[in-house]
Amino acid sequence: MTRKGDVLSVLLILIMWFSQGVKGVKFFNVKDFGAIGDDHFDSTKAFQSSWNEACKWREKAVIEIPRGNYLLRNLLFQGPCMGPINFHNSGTLKAHKINLGLNYWVEFRYVDGLAINGGGYFDGQGSESWLKIMEDTTPMNFLPITLMLDFANNTRIENMNFINSKGSHIKLNGCKNISVNQITILAPENSPNTDGINIALSRQIQVSNSKISTGDDCISILPGTEDVNITGTRCGPGHGISIGSMGLDPNELAVKGVNVKNCNFTNTQNGVRIKTWATKNIGKVAHISFESIVVNNASNPIIIDQNYCPSHQCPKGDSHIQINDVKFVDIMGVSQTYVAVNFRCSKYKPCEVETRNINLKYGSNKGPTISSCFNVKGVASGYQKPPSCIS
Ligand SMILES: *[C@@H]1O[C@H](CO)[C@@H](O)[C@H](O)[C@H]1NC(C)=O
Ligand SMILES: *[C@@H]1O[C@H](CO)[C@@H](O)[C@H](O)[C@H]1NC(C)=O
Ligand SMILES: *[C@@H]1O[C@H](CO)[C@@H](O)[C@H](O)[C@H]1NC(C)=O
Ligand SMILES: *[C@@H]1O[C@H](CO)[C@@H](O)[C@H](O)[C@H]1NC(C)=O
Ligand SMILES: *[C@@H]1O[C@H](CO)[C@@H](O)[C@H](O)[C@H]1NC(C)=O
Repeated sequence: MTRKGDVLSVLLILIMWFSQGVKGVKFFNVKDFGAIGDDHFDSTKAFQSSWNEACKWREKAVIEIPRGNYLLRNLLFQGPCMGPINFHNSGTLKAHKINLGLNYWVEFRYVDGLAINGGGYFDGQGSESWLKIMEDTTPMNFLPITLMLDFANNTRIENMNFINSKGSHIKLNGCKNISVNQITILAPENSPNTDGINIALSRQIQVSNSKISTGDDCISILPGTEDVNITGTRCGPGHGISIGSMGLDPNELAVKGVNVKNCNFTNTQNGVRIKTWATKNIGKVAHISFESIVVNNASNPIIIDQNYCPSHQCPKGDSHIQINDVKFVDIMGVSQTYVAVNFRCSKYKPCEVETRNINLKYGSNKGPTISSCFNVKGVASGYQKPPSCIS
């Protein structure tokens, strides 16, 4: 054999060794399936086919979305798949402006080991639908959620941007072990129903190092959710981080084990909130902590509202949701109103809360803040400004 032949065979062996080394990762570029990122072409079919093929690949599949603006209708990416999938989006996915007629725009269902990353955008193009909703009072069931994870396990959403959703930006429903890290969500302060992240019927959820600015709740934690940690996240504008609303439906499952830590709120309606409707539906909220929170101009920095009534027609009575073991620790900053701590609990099911080291002042030297208590018991310790009203 010649020297040249030797070199070639060594190269061949090296190439084979490397390709085995990456364990059969296969790339599925949406452009190879016909997607065109020119802002006009409808790439729905191309995205759907690339998912269908990636989902059949036995090992790791990477769906590659290069830079460009891809116009897309509803997409249902359904599993279970043969191997883990990385949805690597470096482009801008754009929803059609018209109502999409379904409750999601992009949905991943029955997936395990999915990663969504790549630094790109999901643009819900919601502004026309917001106007419609504000003119029209019919139910809002079909305001599509930008990104829905339905019964997904072991999934990461990382380094991704969400703007101007029609309904919520992200919803986790029936999920287990999901981490959301370093994302941004951005919609105008006056956009209706544009929640940042809704979490329902899910467990082992982590949200970290993210920035959420929107017209409704930054994060809401809904019935049947357990073991949620939210850290290093900024909210504002928006309606704060909420547990609930609870009590709308009978037989709701409890919310348990939620920790919100090292987060801040700037120009928000609420800071940390628990809200329940005043219905006879039973339910439970327990083992919740809000810790090391900075509030910079929230109307209601700390609030439990068991008489939640966002419109004019609400059930009237006493909430039957039991709220237990809720801790507010090291919460400081500026309240937009003088009632900085507001506990409006149910006469039927008084709340049990603990406050420790609270330091909230009213605007820029507008005077003292106060606490307001209805049907709340528990303990207050450390610094308390406003003075505690817990008995
Ligand atoms: C997710 O986990 C649940 C409970 O562990 C399991 O029943 C379900 O089949 C899993 N789903 C997928 C898509 O792997
Ligand atoms: C949670 O999911 C991640 C992948 O996102 C995985 O690496 C990790 O092992 C999972 N943890 C558990 C406890 O299953
Ligand atoms: C949340 O934090 C607690 C306490 O640090 C930890 O025990 C738990 O495993 C964490 N859960 C998740 C989903 O990160
Ligand atoms: C808000 O929180 C973020 C993330 O933890 C942090 O980077 C930022 O400095 C904080 N801002 C204020 C005003 O506390
Ligand atoms: C406080 O926040 C509200 C919105 O909630 C905003 O309209 C107002 O300008 C803010 N005030 C300051 C001093 O930033």
